[in-house]
Amino acid sequence: MHRFENKVAIVTGAAGGIGSAIAMRLASEGATVVISDVNLQAAQAVAEGIQEEGGKALAIAADIAQGDACRALVADVAERLGRIDILVNNAGVNRRGNLLALSEDDWHSSFAINLDAMFHLCRAVLPIMIEAGAGAIVNTASQWGLYPAPGHIAYNVTKAAVASFTQNLARDYAPHNIRVNAVCPGEIHTPMLEAGVRRAGKTIADLDRMVPFGRIGKPEEVAALVAFLASDEAAFMCGSLVEITGAQAVG
Ligand SMILES: NC(=O)c1ccc[n+]([C@@H]2O[C@H](COP(=O)([O-])OP(=O)(O)OC[C@H]3O[C@@H](n4cnc5c(N)ncnc54)[C@H](O)[C@@H]3O)[C@@H](O)[C@H]2O)c1
Repeated sequence: MHRFENKVAIVTGAAGGIGSAIAMRLASEGATVVISDVNLQAAQAVAEGIQEEGGKALAIAADIAQGDACRALVADVAERLGRIDILVNNAGVNRRGNLLALSEDDWHSSFAINLDAMFHLCRAVLPIMIEAGAGAIVNTASQWGLYPAPGHIAYNVTKAAVASFTQNLARDYAPHNIRVNAVCPGEIHTPMLEAGVRRAGKTIADLDRMVPFGRIGKPEEVAALVAFLASDEAAFMCGSLVEITGAQAVG
């Protein structure tokens, strides 16, 4: 499939588990992908991997917890590549703990990275998409934003807000032919998940057993869904929150 020929996509958190899989998938289908992450070295490695496969990628460092950095990222891409067709708001952090265990910094940084960055990035990208007459935005929420798992209040509340943000943005900008959707993954095998598993004293096999499908998900499986939502094949999908969980219920 070559659904993204001549398209430019920005992926945030693109050095991470799910983000790098999304970037590779979009590039494999022809997109020029901006690999954005706070970790420039890791972003460059992802970009080089894509280039070695014959794809088009460019690494740009940005700490999206800062509004100025979000605006600078979009301005830089618009200037260097001339267009922005797809924005994948994927970067996120999971500050674990219940309300008394969390620090104030955990709370604020969760909102800054998981939610406020979407506010800044979408405000910068929307005028470009409106002028072009089309655009696709895919946000990474979480199953836990819809059905909160215990002990992750900051994460869950930000992801619930991402779900609502997605629905609101979709309703406001659908008349401009801009589609906004969110993916809500369950347990996906990434560095973020491995850190949580270690902290809880569990193993990946323990998590596999909790999923009716018999295993946790792979980043490539989320990437395939994101690519579909970003593509013209999803032309009538706007404001959707799509769960990808292997039928796991949060308990
Ligand atoms: N792994 C899961 O099970 C799972 C489940 C549901 C939702 N998600 C969501 O998927 C997204 C990706 O998660 P992942 O599992 O791939 O995690 P990950 O930790 O592998 O990757 C996250 C990436 O975001 C980057 N990042 C963090 N803070 C940043 C900042 N301030 N500015 C720019 N980049 C920053 C990190 O450097 C990292 O490369 C997140 O939004 C996460 O909440 C993950």
